[in-house]
Amino acid sequence: MIKSWVLPCKALKFPSSNFEGSNKFRCRGAKMELTITRPDDWHLHLRDGELLQAVVPHSASHFGRAIVMPNLKPPITTTAAAVAYRESILKAMPAGSDFTPLMTLYLTDTTEPHEIKLARRSGVVYAVKLYPAGATTNSQDGVTDLFGRCLPVLEEMAEQNIPLLVHGEVTDPDIDVFDREGVFIDTVLRPLIQRLPQLKVVMEHITTMDAVKFVESCEEGSVAATVTPQHLLLNRNSLFQGGLQPHNYCLPVLKREIHRQAIVSAVTSGSKRFFIGTDSAPHERRRKESSCGCAGIYSAPVALSLYAKVFEEAGAIDKLEAFLSFNGPDFYGLPRNTSKIKLIKNSFNVPECFSFPFGDIVPMFAGETLEWQSSIS
Ligand code: DOR
Ligand code: ZN
Repeated sequence: MIKSWVLPCKALKFPSSNFEGSNKFRCRGAKMELTITRPDDWHLHLRDGELLQAVVPHSASHFGRAIVMPNLKPPITTTAAAVAYRESILKAMPAGSDFTPLMTLYLTDTTEPHEIKLARRSGVVYAVKLYPAGATTNSQDGVTDLFGRCLPVLEEMAEQNIPLLVHGEVTDPDIDVFDREGVFIDTVLRPLIQRLPQLKVVMEHITTMDAVKFVESCEEGSVAATVTPQHLLLNRNSLFQGGLQPHNYCLPVLKREIHRQAIVSAVTSGSKRFFIGTDSAPHERRRKESSCGCAGIYSAPVALSLYAKVFEEAGAIDKLEAFLSFNGPDFYGLPRNTSKIKLIKNSFNVPECFSFPFGDIVPMFAGETLEWQSSIS
């Protein structure tokens, strides 16, 4: 069972006067309230088995839909497997939840163009994920020959208007781990877009100024990027603050402060090219706190609070709704959600961990105080 999560109300800040009187921003007593269209999560790891049962309620309680990543063991490489995985997600959802999982396929060197036709016809597969082989968790079956063996599949995706979701890092061990995104842009992404300009591409979890500039240089509506809470709030110092911090380790790894600032400026500018994708990636505590710790940060329970914090601190809370709730569906050509949620400025303590019979999962910002709480309105 999930540990009970008591959200005490304390230390309320008084709202600034320019929020008063607006429809979206309300001040109830001392609390600032923001009512927005229900957000979606355009990059989520739900896992399977007991981990799936454990984490699905967190995403289902905050988000309308989520793009579900296919990097299971074995990976979800066919539409039939995606349909079966979707069934197990639906079974794991809390009673009464209307959360909608949007499925993806894991691209391999042997994926057939026919699989893309099946995906389109299924009505439940919305994208194909490119993991360069060896780039991250469960990517060993990923792509080694994008411009060769995968080209017919990419052409079919462009034809069927199915977006390619890209883990944008090269895997060459001779390339410094902090440079892998930049090298990927120059050697893979730019040539790919030149070769197949009709293919829709999402550069997932961008981490650098180079990625921001690249996405801004592409045609709007054709190339976009998801942004995680960790790449907006943390820089690479957070990996080593007071000792090694395994719960801040994810891939692509956190970068320098100048990169974090460039990403914050991009998302708070109001550009439609950037949208939420939490990359919430749960791992059991013992797999993170290990001699060879897994990459992945579990952010689903606190992601909306964290994004609100970023936009508020940047003085751009008026741009938050488009980032959370409009830019993603607009890019995917899906309707925006019609229901609303409230974000209420109430301090709460993030739990140290969520405990399950199989072990603990430590969330992002564990044990810290955050200010924005979300509730279905
Ligand atoms: O940190 C990460 N964790 N990055 C990824 O690309 C995969 C993810 C996971 O599945 O754990
Ligand atoms: Zn991911």
